[in-house]
Amino acid sequence: MTMKQETSKIGHFISIQDLDKDGLINLINLALDIKSKRTRPSINGKSLALLFEKPSLRTRIAFELGMSQMDGFSVNFDEEELQMGKREALKDISKVLSRYVDAVTARVVDHKTLLELKKYSTVPVINALSDIEHPCQALADLMTIKEKKGTFKGLKLVFIGDGNNVASSLALACALVGINFVISSPQNYGLPEPIIKASSEIATYSNWSLNSIQDPTEAVEEADIIYTDVWTSMGQESETDERNIAFKNYTVTKSLLGKAKKDVLFLHDLPAHRGEEVEDGVIESPQSAVFDQAENRLHTQKALLSMILSTKQLKSL
Ligand code: CP
Ligand code: NVA
Repeated sequence: MTMKQETSKIGHFISIQDLDKDGLINLINLALDIKSKRTRPSINGKSLALLFEKPSLRTRIAFELGMSQMDGFSVNFDEEELQMGKREALKDISKVLSRYVDAVTARVVDHKTLLELKKYSTVPVINALSDIEHPCQALADLMTIKEKKGTFKGLKLVFIGDGNNVASSLALACALVGINFVISSPQNYGLPEPIIKASSEIATYSNWSLNSIQDPTEAVEEADIIYTDVWTSMGQESETDERNIAFKNYTVTKSLLGKAKKDVLFLHDLPAHRGEEVEDGVIESPQSAVFDQAENRLHTQKALLSMILSTKQLKSL
């Protein structure tokens, strides 16, 4: 895997920025090969700890099943039993897990928790969603785009809604592979400045663009891909009412889809709040690939894990 920290033995995956363009494209191609059964990676005997501070369907099953399908093992911890930083200091959890397993995956409330785990870990730490990024999701997003469109460079992706963790990882991934990115969100809900800056810095094509267009109808003109996510992410529940008001004109409707290119692809990371950020009919439309996208979480997770855990040495206790 071409990770950016090539000199380090540890291939942490905290941000899309931990990959370069070749690493990302190799990973997507490996995931496509895994899906088509052209390749069957094995990580025989390797082990993974899964730490979840927030609920999950896709991420948990993709990591657990992915490990067992490649002849590895995973151990899952939920917030109640782990109580990160309360029952035990994060650095102690990280040091202990490093003695047992070959990698640690964590879904956290606060991104700083991941950075703390990484700081004290001697094995790779993988971000399974934080308040800042959801890089594993972006891998499945790109894989689905490659499957459906056959290419990346020059496509126009329009993200309608909140400039959140999913949008941030996706913008960074699009910058690496040359998909032009447009975000359409209400004022004060756009992409965070550090993500805009980082995306421009890592963009591999000089004519790559990132634009913000507040009006969704204007934004989706000539779009190849329309993407949306929930208006209120996990942990923001107290803001639900104000967000529902702010985003009320940002539902992806069939009529909005009709204003993009004829062969526009609709994506959503799921879970979806049908009737809020997206109409039922859009999820069920022929343009929607949301269930392929969900399935691709498994294939991309296997590709990522096999690349990170590919060294021969096994953890032995
Ligand atoms: N898309 C995604 O990460 O789904 P889960 O929250 O169910 O894992
Ligand atoms: N933005 C959503 C993504 C869920 C997979 C959240 O953080 O809740």
